Amino acid sequence: MHPDAQGPEIHYYMIRGGDKKTNVTVWETGTVGGEYIKTYGHYHVGHLDETYNIAEGEGIVLLQKRKGEDSGQPIDDEIESFIAIKVKQGDRVFIPSGMGHLVANIGKTWFVTFDDSPVNMEEKDPVSLPGHADYEAVKKMRGFAYYVVEEADKPTLVKNPLYKVVPKPQWFTPEEYASKVQK
Ligand SMILES: [Fe+2]
Repeated sequence: MHPDAQGPEIHYYMIRGGDKKTNVTVWETGTVGGEYIKTYGHYHVGHLDETYNIAEGEGIVLLQKRKGEDSGQPIDDEIESFIAIKVKQGDRVFIPSGMGHLVANIGKTWFVTFDDSPVNMEEKDPVSLPGHADYEAVKKMRGFAYYVVEEADKPTLVKNPLYKVVPKPQWFTPEEYASKVQK
């Protein structure tokens, strides 16, 4: 939201598991320019679901689907659906293929997840930018359609003005969302 705002040098740490182990991600605490520390956010390339297990902390998972995604011609600045899920230790979130995703740490502790996204160690740059993930669309739009901002010590969603079409965010618990996507 505020590219020049000051924050910790490293916002999150990722340990890639390769073929046999899960990936681990650890988020720093705090805010940068009012925005809670978050992962970059990406869309998957090709059909790929992903499951996040929350090992520690409190966070908000943001999911957004672009218009045209189902026909293979997604429009980066037009969003069809936007979902926010508040999560804590012990929760699990299934992310269906086609939903862009990022997670913000809204707690006072590390936020830690395990995920099962594949990492092919034979790729040119498997560690920082695995081939299954597209970060460019998010980079171009300077984030997702909403930012998770701290207001009076509470998280609130603030619209990203660069997006042309943005629906209202739908809030779900992890259980509600799981039953919605039937996984
Ligand atoms: Fe992913």
